[in-house]
This record gives sequence, structure tokens and C-alpha cells, in this order.
Amino acid sequence: MKSLVVLISGSGSNLKALLDAVARGEIRAQVKAVIADRDCAGRQHAEAAGVPFVLLNRKTADFAAALDAAVPDCDLVVLAGFLSIIPPALVARFPHRMVNLHPSLLPKFGGAGMYGLRVHQAVLAAGERESGCSVHWVDTGIDSGAVIAQAQVPVLADDTPQTLQARIAPEEHRLLVTTVARLLDGDSL
Ligand code: GAR
Repeated sequence: MKSLVVLISGSGSNLKALLDAVARGEIRAQVKAVIADRDCAGRQHAEAAGVPFVLLNRKTADFAAALDAAVPDCDLVVLAGFLSIIPPALVARFPHRMVNLHPSLLPKFGGAGMYGLRVHQAVLAAGERESGCSVHWVDTGIDSGAVIAQAQVPVLADDTPQTLQARIAPEEHRLLVTTVARLLDGDSL
């Protein structure tokens, strides 16, 4: 059976979508570990599913080495709302086997400082009529790897960052689950 490792920093709703899809047999893989770079609400989803949870401290000097050491060998690493930069040595261990979820239509609104509500604020400030989410391969840049799949939503005239985020969130859950399932079922991993 193929295996996944999921990295998180926040509420873990995308982690939960992955774990639920594994439980339903929609993703045919074992989740070997969930790793967080800070104490976060997502921990409860890992624990409820009986998946080993590793808590790291992103503020320690040896964080990059600790993260590299914490990620076991697996078929696919999924960054599901993970907000720390992935050290180059870890990227090199998983060429075309590490994906990131981002809440915009990359290459728009990606890069340093673009995460969470900040992304949606920037989308609204730019007057975009459409936004969405992307799953892309992780390389050594920030949100710069090739896009694998995207989902679009309309931006409405009275949107706030929060309402736009709420419209995109269920699309993220669907996109991440279907993309991870497809990658694991394909021949490339
Ligand atoms: C998601 O919206 C994800 O796209 C975003 O963090 C959120 C995590 O939510 N990631 C980034 O902004 C990465 N640059 P979750 O903790 O509920 O899954």
C-alpha cells in the first residue's frame, strides 16, 4: 500500500478531508504521519484517526534538520496549510513527490507572505473577478512549482476576505482529495 505524510500549521480542515477520504477508501494509502511546525488545532484530526503526530518548533535553530528527520520515507508528502519553508534537502528527497495546496489561482497571488487571509485580501484589492485554489509540485521556491490542478470560484462584489475564503475552502478539500487520489493511483509515484 502507498503511503502519505501530511504537514500542517493550522486548523487542519484539509488534513481532515484527506483522512476522511482515506477512511472511505477514496484515497488508497496509509497516512504514515502528520507533522506540525507549531501547536495547532489540526492535531486533533490526526489523533482522532490514530495517525502518529509529530510536533516541531519552527522557532528553533535546528528546525530544518528536525523537519527533514521527522519526515519518513513515503510515496507522497502533502503540505496542507503548512506555513514554514521546506528546506532544500527535504525538497531534494521528494522530487515530484511533494505537493502544496495554495488558496489562489497560481501563479497569481503566490510567493513570500502570501498565505491564508492575506491571499484573499490581495485578490480583492486587485479587483479580480475570479479566484480559487491550486495544488502544485514543491520546488525550492515559494509557490513556484508546476501547477497540477486548480479549481475556480467567482469573486462577488460584496466579498470580504472571509467570505471569499469560505467559498474556496470546500473547493480546496475536494481538489486536494481528488488530486492526491489521482497521483497515488497513477504510475508516476
Ligand atoms: C488553506 O486554505 C491552504 O490553502 C492555506 O492554508 C489553509 C489551511 O487550512 N495554505 C497557504 O496559504 C499556503 N501558502 P486548513 O488548516 O484548514 O487545512
